[in-house]
Amino acid sequence: DSVERVFSGIQPTGIPHLGNYLGAIESWVKLQEEYDTVLYSIVDFHSITIPQDPSVLQQSILDMTAVLLACGINPEKSILFQQSQVSEHTQLSWILTCMVRLPRLQHLHQWKAKAARQKHDGTVGLLTYPVLQAADILCYKSTHVPVGEDQVQHMELVQDLARSFNQKYGEFFPLPKSILTSMKKVKSLRDPSAKMSKSDPDKLATVGITDSPEEIVQKFRKAVTDFTSEVTYEPESRAGVSNMVAIHAAVSGLSVEEVVRSSAGMDTARYKLLVADAVIEKFAPIRSEIEKLKMDKDHLKKVLHVGSAKAKELAYPVFEQVKKLVGI
Ligand code: ADP
Ligand code: NA
Repeated sequence: DSVERVFSGIQPTGIPHLGNYLGAIESWVKLQEEYDTVLYSIVDFHSITIPQDPSVLQQSILDMTAVLLACGINPEKSILFQQSQVSEHTQLSWILTCMVRLPRLQHLHQWKAKAARQKHDGTVGLLTYPVLQAADILCYKSTHVPVGEDQVQHMELVQDLARSFNQKYGEFFPLPKSILTSMKKVKSLRDPSAKMSKSDPDKLATVGITDSPEEIVQKFRKAVTDFTSEVTYEPESRAGVSNMVAIHAAVSGLSVEEVVRSSAGMDTARYKLLVADAVIEKFAPIRSEIEKLKMDKDHLKKVLHVGSAKAKELAYPVFEQVKKLVGI
């Protein structure tokens, strides 16, 4: 079967920021139009690889559902579901876990970085979560996976695991291809040499897509640029202003050249406020839609249930075949 299937996952914890939106969610919305079968999973199992408060987590799963719907993920066009509602993910993960050797996981950059950030040694779950990611993708025989650059190493693991399985049990899994989504890398507003990230301790550095207009203005006002009163796009030598230009272009749908041409002579302090306005305008309808959706928890739960049932329908026959191949 040569069907094309797109799979991607997002952790429910934390409201997405401008970088997540421009680097991931926006391309998810486009992919719905380009592929017949598109699966987007709220990967709650992944989020518990680091400690979570149960009641906060439960709310976050519904909040993320609201966010994705408001951003344009359409349950008629893609399967939006909760990972833990489809048991095939963890079952396939076990089979794959038995096929990967310890050093292969210990050498992954993210394991090293994330384990180093923990107070105690990292858990086995944190170590093996890329194997669960492989299962997430392979349990639908997915062919395409939109990912950021930070996930390229994990995608190599997914391909290795698919290849090992095929070698051992016969040609079964397609080797999934990455679709690189984060070409528009949004930088921190406070340190334009770093990417915008939700784990940034400086709250002024990261713009959440549900931030109020006042918060957005404040953050852009405090954005670090330089003392040259001119708008140009020179990412190497003027990272701060160039980040403003890139954000401005991305949220307004204009090209970088068009943005620079229309604002070239402008003082950077004024320009930052103009970009803030463009961001506010872009996210105003999304923000009000999120507020509306969050009021109807039953609706959000139903969306996840219906989506999870559809996902299950695809994963079940794949896993039945996997079990037969493995001899269990
Ligand atoms: P964070 O670094 O804030 O924890 P995640 O690792 O959860 O973000 O990233 C989720 C998705 O958003 C990934 O596809 C990632 O590449 C993309 N992404 C994250 N930060 C940025 C950014 N600053 N610019 C562009 N894309 C980003
Ligand atoms: Na990350």
